[in-house]
Amino acid sequence: MDYDEAKENDIDIIRKDFPVTKKKIYMNCGSFAPTPLSTIKSITDFLVRCSEEGPDSSSVQEYITSLMQDLRIILGQLINCEPEEIIFTQSTTEGLNYVASGFKWKKSDIIIARGGLHEHYANYFPWLNISKKYGVKLEEIKIDKNGFFDLDKIDKIAKNKNTRLITLSHVLYNSGAIMPVEEVGKIAKRQNLLYSIDAAQSVGTINVDVKKIGCDFLAFPGFKWICGPPGIGIFYCKKESASLLTPKYIGGESAIITDEKNLVYSESPQKFQTGFRNYLGIAGLASSLKYIQRLGVNEIRKMNMKVANEIIEEIRTIPGISIFGPKDEKLRSSIVSFAIDSVSPKVMVSRLEKNGIIVAERDIVGGGKKKAVRASPHFFNTTNEVSTLVQNIKNIQNMFG
Ligand SMILES: Cc1ncc(COP(=O)(O)O)c(C=O)c1O
Repeated sequence: MDYDEAKENDIDIIRKDFPVTKKKIYMNCGSFAPTPLSTIKSITDFLVRCSEEGPDSSSVQEYITSLMQDLRIILGQLINCEPEEIIFTQSTTEGLNYVASGFKWKKSDIIIARGGLHEHYANYFPWLNISKKYGVKLEEIKIDKNGFFDLDKIDKIAKNKNTRLITLSHVLYNSGAIMPVEEVGKIAKRQNLLYSIDAAQSVGTINVDVKKIGCDFLAFPGFKWICGPPGIGIFYCKKESASLLTPKYIGGESAIITDEKNLVYSESPQKFQTGFRNYLGIAGLASSLKYIQRLGVNEIRKMNMKVANEIIEEIRTIPGISIFGPKDEKLRSSIVSFAIDSVSPKVMVSRLEKNGIIVAERDIVGGGKKKAVRASPHFFNTTNEVSTLVQNIKNIQNMFG
């Protein structure tokens, strides 16, 4: 890193961009990250421009068109795809539903999913729904205690001539384990299967390359690790796979009508984008992405893992603690999940919040059978905050234990 970059990445400067850091210790970016001030300004500037020039004036419409084009280019650079392969959605869930509800499923079809109830519901319910609705078989692959699975098992089911699609989370929402998405991608390619990725917990915190993964579809939100505003998500749809999906909605922007009143879909991404979009979200996301790009995902990963490792190192010695997820740093994100025998995660999370520390309670074993406290720190968190977090955990344990 050269001097200028070092200055830009200076944690004190970064923290000034995130006002929450003045008041609280915020370690809940796996749920909803704060936006930097520059993003708030971009959204406000956009609204001011609309109100001064008229939202449906040609100048503002041209601005919106260029904003969307630029954003598609930046997103394409981020995940290594073409700008036309980027579709703006509301959320990860919406993108995954584009896939699940977009095919003509046959009763004989098989879908491979990791872990069933252990998967995030956003990447489980849409597939379960399809299986209930059309009789499609959902093969739920067994997982080990860290959320990993037997690749040979997937390979075996993938070879069944009825298997059509594999769905997988890139990073697990509960333990932060990084799934072997590239290896599964090779299986999908060998058997000519469709491959869909839930990247809600990966884009913005680790490198994501859709070509390396070899997926047809990948969905993620703008408002977790990219620090964008709520209500904007991205759906990557590989050019060659777009024709396989029928969009859930149809309208003026996504299709044309012929003289015989036949409806013909436009090319992707227009095919999936009916009506006006969330332009505020787009303006904000473009700004947040520039922030992420300026820091660089590799640098963000280093900063995040430093904090995550400090948390693990400091809580390891707490009596009665279980820390979930793989030990190997290469196999996990900055999510740190743990449970303490004597204090329920619910109580721990609410007590921490009373003390100004925001973390989350999440299932660590699917179906609500076992819960954990999940800390999901990002690049604005510090070593001092880790010490305060750990001291508070110890104090709460002493109070209840
Ligand atoms: C792995 C995973 N998938 C999907 C979602 C749902 O994301 P969204 O709110 O963007 O639909 C989440 C949210 O926490 C998640 O962690």
